[in-house]
Amino acid sequence: MAKNRAKYVCGGCGYVSTGFLGRCPACQAWDSFSAAPAAPTAGDASRQASGAGAVALADVPEENTVRLMTGLEELDRVLGGGLTPGAVVLLAGEPGVGKSTLLLQAAAGTAKQGGRLLYVTGEESAGQVKTRAERLGLDPASLWVLAETSLPEIEAEAGRGDWDVLAVDSIQTVQIPGLGSQAGSPGQLRECAARLSALAKAKGLPLWLVGHITKDGQIAGPKLLEHLVDTVLYFEGERDRPLRILRSFKNRFGSVNETGIFEMAGDGLGQVRNPSALFLAERPKGAPGSVVAAVLEGNRPLLMEVQALVSPSPLAMPRRQTVGVDATRMGLLSAVLEKKARVRLYDRDVFVNVAGGARIGEPAADLAVAAAIASSWLDRALAADLVIVGEVGLAGEVRRVGRLRDRLAEAARMGFRMAVAPLHEAGQVPEGLGLKVHGVASLQQFLAEHLDYRGRGRAQGPDRDE
Ligand code: TYD
Ligand code: MG
Repeated sequence: MAKNRAKYVCGGCGYVSTGFLGRCPACQAWDSFSAAPAAPTAGDASRQASGAGAVALADVPEENTVRLMTGLEELDRVLGGGLTPGAVVLLAGEPGVGKSTLLLQAAAGTAKQGGRLLYVTGEESAGQVKTRAERLGLDPASLWVLAETSLPEIEAEAGRGDWDVLAVDSIQTVQIPGLGSQAGSPGQLRECAARLSALAKAKGLPLWLVGHITKDGQIAGPKLLEHLVDTVLYFEGERDRPLRILRSFKNRFGSVNETGIFEMAGDGLGQVRNPSALFLAERPKGAPGSVVAAVLEGNRPLLMEVQALVSPSPLAMPRRQTVGVDATRMGLLSAVLEKKARVRLYDRDVFVNVAGGARIGEPAADLAVAAAIASSWLDRALAADLVIVGEVGLAGEVRRVGRLRDRLAEAARMGFRMAVAPLHEAGQVPEGLGLKVHGVASLQQFLAEHLDYRGRGRAQGPDRDE
C-alpha cells in the first residue's frame, strides 16, 4: 500500500478515500470530504519498532503486574484482579444503565488506596459530577475532575499531573479539533481512542473509556473500539429495574467468564453478594408454571426462577413470547413438548419469563423452561424445593450440562433438597451435598415422574410417536 498518499475523510462517517469525492459512498452525505490530517493513525501509535529481533519466550522478563484495585470486588474480579498499568478498559452500555456511577464509585475506591485519578467528563459539568459524587457518599477531596472534550487539552492535563488512573466519560464526546468530523464519528472515535491509548501505554496508566451503545447496536461506536482496547466490559440491565450485570467480553488480563452483579439503589450501585437469593426472593412457592433452574452466569452458578404462563389463544397464530430466554429456544422446546410429550400447545399462547430481570443464555436451562411450560399447561405445581438442570434435544432426550456439581452445590446452599439432572451425569455427583439427585433420560420421563403426566391417549396416524 502506498504509504504517504494523501487521504480524504468523510466528516459524517469517517469513510476514508484516496481521492476527493463529492458524495460519500458509505453515508451518502454530500460535500463531506476533506483532506485527512497527517497525524499518526491508530496503528502507527500502538505499533512498536524496537528492532531487537526475536527473543526466546524463556528469556522474556516477567511482566510487572502490580494491579490497582478499585475496591469494588464485583468489578475487580471482572477486570481479572484490578486494573493493570497501561491497560485500556472500555466500559460500554446503554445510556442510563449506570456507567458513570460505576466509574465514579470505582474512582473513589482507587483514590482511597492513594491512587490519583483524573476523571474527564465530556457529558456533565464539574458541578454535576460533584453533586453526584456527594450523593454517592464519595470523598470529593479524592477526585480530580476535568470538564473537557478537546483531546489536546485532555492530553495536556494528563501529561501535567502525576496521575495513577485516567478516566474518559465518554469517548463519544471527545474530539480532535480540525479532524473535519464531529465528535462520536468513527474517524474521531478511532483516532481519539488510539491517541489516549498511546498516552496510557506511554505513562503506564490504566485508562477507562466509557462508550455508549444503543439497544439495537445501531451507533456501533464501542464495536469499532473493541479491537483497539485491552478489555471490553459490557454493563447491562433494564432501566426500570435495579439489577445490573457487568460482563467481560474481551480481556487481555483475565478471564472473560467473570461477571459482576450489582443493584442500582438511591445511593449508587450496591454489590450483590448472593444473587441466587435476589433472584428467588419473590418466588411463589407451589405455583404452577414456576420452576427453579441452576444456570451458569460466566463462572458463577446461580439459581433463577423461570416462569411460564400457558393460556387459551384467540389467535390463529398463538403467541410465543419470552423475556430473559431466547425466543427461538422456547419455540423449539414448545415443539418438542407438543410432538414428543403430547403437551398440546397449538391453540395456546405461551409466555416465558425469567424473574428479576435476569437473562438465561445457556441450554442447560432447557428442561426448566420445558418444565415450567408443562406445569402451567397442566396447572400442576412442581415440588417447591426442586431445582432443575438439563439440556433438551429435539427427540426429547435430556442431555448433559457443564459443571453440574457446582450448580447443585449452589442449590444445596440455597436450601434446595431435590434436583433433577441429566441421567448420564447424575451418578457423578458426589454424596454429601445434602441434595437428592434424580437422573432423567428424557423430557417424557420427567413429565411422568415429576408432574404425573404421561400424555392423554395415543396419537393417531403419522403423528404417532414414542
Ligand atoms: P448513570 O451512571 O448516569 O448512567 P450512564 O452513565 O450509563 O448513562 O446513571 C443513570 C441512572 O442511574 C440515572 O437515571 C439515575 C440512576 N441512579 C440511581 O438510581 N441512583 C444513584 O445513586 C445514581 C447516581 C444514579
Ligand atoms: Mg454517563
